Amino acid sequence: MKLGEKTMDILVVGGGGREHAVIKTLKKSKRCGKIWCLPGNGGIAADAECVPVKATDLDGIAAFAQKCKPDFAVVTPDDPLCMGLVDRLEGLGVPCFGPTKNAAVIEGSKVFSKDLMKKYGIPTAESRVFTDAAEAISYLKTHPYPVVVKADGLALGKGAVVAATFSEAEKAVRDMMVEKVFGESGNRILIEEFLTGPEVSVLSFTDGKTLVPMVSSMDHKRARTGDEGLNTGGMGAVAPNPYYTEEIAARCMREIFLPTVAAMNREGRTFRGCLYFGLMLTPEGPKVIEYNCRFGDPETQAVLPLLESDLLEIILACRNGTLAETAVKFSGGASCCVVLASDGYPQKYQTGYEISLPEAGEDEAIFVAGARLEGGKLLTAGGRVLGATATAPTLKEAVARAYSLAEKITFENAYKRADIGARALSALGE
Ligand code: AMP
Ligand code: GLY
Repeated sequence: MKLGEKTMDILVVGGGGREHAVIKTLKKSKRCGKIWCLPGNGGIAADAECVPVKATDLDGIAAFAQKCKPDFAVVTPDDPLCMGLVDRLEGLGVPCFGPTKNAAVIEGSKVFSKDLMKKYGIPTAESRVFTDAAEAISYLKTHPYPVVVKADGLALGKGAVVAATFSEAEKAVRDMMVEKVFGESGNRILIEEFLTGPEVSVLSFTDGKTLVPMVSSMDHKRARTGDEGLNTGGMGAVAPNPYYTEEIAARCMREIFLPTVAAMNREGRTFRGCLYFGLMLTPEGPKVIEYNCRFGDPETQAVLPLLESDLLEIILACRNGTLAETAVKFSGGASCCVVLASDGYPQKYQTGYEISLPEAGEDEAIFVAGARLEGGKLLTAGGRVLGATATAPTLKEAVARAYSLAEKITFENAYKRADIGARALSALGE
């Protein structure tokens, strides 16, 4: 098939709210043909053909690609990216959006990314690496508090512990290095200086030469209203993030984004795909808290509804090295995504409850994350069940509309935070 001539059949790997947002946005493109989602979920099934192959089953996905011959693949979860799914599919002749394994390491190893930042002068928290629990604990005895303990490898977004005291930090080290709660991911750990300031998520498109930031966003990581409770994958997001001024954006481009792209190139690890910058705006300036090698979730559920340009054209350009000539425009409005979770998440929770979904109105969307279809009914099947998103000219209206949409969605045992967007609104003086 020649690009630009006919529609493209697309394989999307993953099965959460982020993938649902990507699929709904791709479907707005004139060139989007059929979409398969592996494994997808009961809600995504309304927008794509879901095939029950796990995102980490590289052999299964490769076999599917050989059989169904997609024109393009979009790989969004961290695990398959770090396992080398893009290398595998590209090897089979399927062009992909997403980094190869040697570039995905920017998320897969926090020790790698910390070394990269130190080597290339990219601002980040001071930290030290440990491979021995006793040495880490003896270092903790002299460190000021709070302190941050991080597992090197992937840990479902739960691998960072902010410890207020020595005993909390010691427990985190033992959990990671001795109890191996994150498996091999805790073989090496980082002990990191505690930074303060507002957090900003900046997702960007890059083809390895050009980098185009998307509209900024703010995640809400704690489980409970008022920033209480455990860290989760994210309980809601707003975009844009009011702390991220144009001046700060320009500084991040100069000091963080472009240097990161250049550093990866210098290391022979050219990054193509969505590069996610988790930033903290400290009194000394913006610093990197973490890199992700993919779209963030739930940020993507807030950010993509504001994209006015054609997502398929953009991600093709990231793959083909033509991002500089491709339009990437976001609306000047605002967006809010409120996550509805199963009460108990991120720990134990019950599933299997029927979900009643309203029709989403104009400028609204419901992105389904943890649900399955059974006998024509949509049942809860995960911690984060879905995201209710609304866009509007102002953040205040977007937050109100997202909550009014969320109120119309019912299932037993549902839990949502009551304050998504509250911090952003107060920063705006509203
Ligand atoms: P991470 O898994 O690295 O994204 O960390 C999860 C969360 O822990 C971040 O969103 C921050 O809220 C917090 N965190 C991580 N590193 C630091 C740090 N050096 N100082 C303060 N907070 C941090
Ligand atoms: N919401 C943060 C992440 O996707 O890692």
